[in-house]
Amino acid sequence: MSKYILPVSVVGTVFGCAVLLKNHVTGGRCPSKAVITGKTVVITGANTGIGKETAKELAKRGGRVIMGCRDMKKCEEAAKEIRGKTLNSQVYSCHLDLASMTSIREFAEKINKEEQRVDVLINNAGVMRCPAWKTEDGFDMQFGVNHLGHFLLTNLLLDKLKESAPSRIINLSSLAHIVGKMDFEDLNWEKKKFDTKQAYCQSKLANVLFTRELAKRLQGTGVTVNAVHPGVVATELGRHTGLHQSTFSTSVLSPLFSMLVKSPELGAQPSVYLAVSEELEGVTGHYYDVMTEKEPAPQALDDEVARKLWELSSSLVGLEKKTGEQTDGSKTTAGVKGRAAQTETMQTHGHSPGAAVGAATV
Ligand SMILES: NC(=O)c1ccc[n+]([C@@H]2O[C@H](COP(=O)([O-])OP(=O)(O)OC[C@H]3O[C@@H](n4cnc5c(N)ncnc54)[C@H](OP(=O)(O)O)[C@@H]3O)[C@@H](O)[C@H]2O)c1
Repeated sequence: MSKYILPVSVVGTVFGCAVLLKNHVTGGRCPSKAVITGKTVVITGANTGIGKETAKELAKRGGRVIMGCRDMKKCEEAAKEIRGKTLNSQVYSCHLDLASMTSIREFAEKINKEEQRVDVLINNAGVMRCPAWKTEDGFDMQFGVNHLGHFLLTNLLLDKLKESAPSRIINLSSLAHIVGKMDFEDLNWEKKKFDTKQAYCQSKLANVLFTRELAKRLQGTGVTVNAVHPGVVATELGRHTGLHQSTFSTSVLSPLFSMLVKSPELGAQPSVYLAVSEELEGVTGHYYDVMTEKEPAPQALDDEVARKLWELSSSLVGLEKKTGEQTDGSKTTAGVKGRAAQTETMQTHGHSPGAAVGAATV
């Protein structure tokens, strides 16, 4: 008997068991059977991965689903597939590039003008470990898309969410937030050497801090907001990592990885749970690890840091406080280096910061 038979069969058995057990270990399906007929859901980055499966599940439950994506061809293909599979004709594709404040403002304006209500906003889109790219407005791509883009979008849709209350906001964060650090001196990686992993972790920490501060500001409005880590899911999120950068990794490692982690369909269950579950009515400001409420990392529990991030983000995206005053009493200013130049660029395009519908922070 070959000396390799025993180790190969042990490895095979362990691998087989891991594949069979992974769905149980990594969290199951949303326990709620709630239907959402008559409710409108806006979901970002819905052409693939977790976002697409979330859109599909919510369409299946009868919702009117608006998919905000940057690539309209991919978005319409996904929307068409979802309409076909769910027999729900109210699934729409709409252009949204979270790396462009102009695009975010146009998207929000369209929703505010054309939609009667927004019951659920799912801030799902994300980019992970990309090179040192900048957004159209000059922000680090991961901080700009994952945090600032969703920060601006949410604020622009807040009046509509409040009118539709009880309504829910769901922010897709990640377990990666636990190693994140907010570097307020250099959020955009202009002074220190770029570290793409840390840039992702910082942006996902920002998602949890944003959730915390927003929940406080929304007390009494009937709008809730929670953050979620969906688990480890086989999606295109790793497209900028080693897993997709050679023929060997694409054809061997990536499929093996996919077999060991959750399918996008199961990866969507936490977002669906937070969007529809009856038991979460009125629950706000929490962090969920898959479908279990957990305490996030200590640096995500710091109210002062959360407030500071909010003030800085408002300034960076051009949202003015309703009073025109900072909470410390000083006037709202450019806030960070580069903001003045950015304001100029936006004005030449005819968009003065804060000019769009509902362009004031709560
Ligand atoms: N997968 C995981 O294991 C995991 C774990 C923890 C957290 N998450 C979080 O879950 C969320 C969904 O990720 P996923 O795994 O489903 O990844 P994915 O398959 O890569 O999907 C990401 C989506 O975001 C979109 N997107 C990226 N940049 C955008 C931009 N500038 N404007 C608009 N849309 C943009 C992508 O559009 P294109 O197709 O056009 O690029 C895509 O639709 C992310 O926030 C991620 O951080 C995922």
